[in-house]
Amino acid sequence: MKTVTTLGELRAARAELPEPVGLVPTMGYLHPGHVSLARRARAECAGVVATIFVNPTQFGPGEDLENYPRDLPRDLELLAEAGVDLVWTPTPEVMYPPGFQTWVTVEAVTQPLEGVRRPGHFRGVTTVVAKLFNGVQPQRAYFGQKDAQQVVVIQRMARDLDMPVEIVVCPTVREPDGLAMSSRNSYLDAAQREAAAVLYRALTAARDAFAAGERDAAQLRQEMNDVLDTEPLARVDYVSCADPETLQEMETVADRALLSMAVFVGKARLIDNIIVGG
Ligand code: PAF
Repeated sequence: MKTVTTLGELRAARAELPEPVGLVPTMGYLHPGHVSLARRARAECAGVVATIFVNPTQFGPGEDLENYPRDLPRDLELLAEAGVDLVWTPTPEVMYPPGFQTWVTVEAVTQPLEGVRRPGHFRGVTTVVAKLFNGVQPQRAYFGQKDAQQVVVIQRMARDLDMPVEIVVCPTVREPDGLAMSSRNSYLDAAQREAAAVLYRALTAARDAFAAGERDAAQLRQEMNDVLDTEPLARVDYVSCADPETLQEMETVADRALLSMAVFVGKARLIDNIIVGG
């Protein structure tokens, strides 16, 4: 496995790779969810590139950019084990050189949910992902369903800007108690870690209600809130029952719905989701 930093090094190494090339973009501090993306890319593509870049422009003021967990040596070991060919670890100066002033903005689907709580977040995500696509020029790019809105936003960007890349969405990888794998789980102490399983319990309660015939979106949100309220260490930021494509809140679920939530447990802000129906 080769590791490169500058755009010139990346382009030279990328030119040597067999096609199709699969890209696994990450912010590092890898967990089994990231590894599952790399393995899927390995299984489906002749060349596999992973990127590790803690992207400053997708963090708002007061978010966890400075303290975001990092462990490059371990990340490189995990990527090598997963069979990745090339790792690009750009510095902030490589990604955003002096004079940088061009942004990619996706409109309606960035406004609700995370967009309300994290203004500017998706502008940072789409800009960096567009730059990763331009640098690596992958035929496929692999993202986790855990970041459901991110997936919708990136699919929209790729379609609207005619980017010749297939967005492959991979299932959320969970701990045995259902907690979705996330680098931010490392912020949890033992009691908070146990409490954090409440997110998945809330999602599955709503999923069960849906399976039993409940189609009233307010009722499905209530199911999730009722379970979250049982956990004193959890503080709900939002719960949502939205259209999986437009991300607009629903009144009645006709077919499919994205059930999602953001919940503070200690200083960690955890997000999770499942899609029901269809
Ligand atoms: O999902 C992430 O880790 C990041 O948002 C991404 C896609 C690597 C862009 O920085």
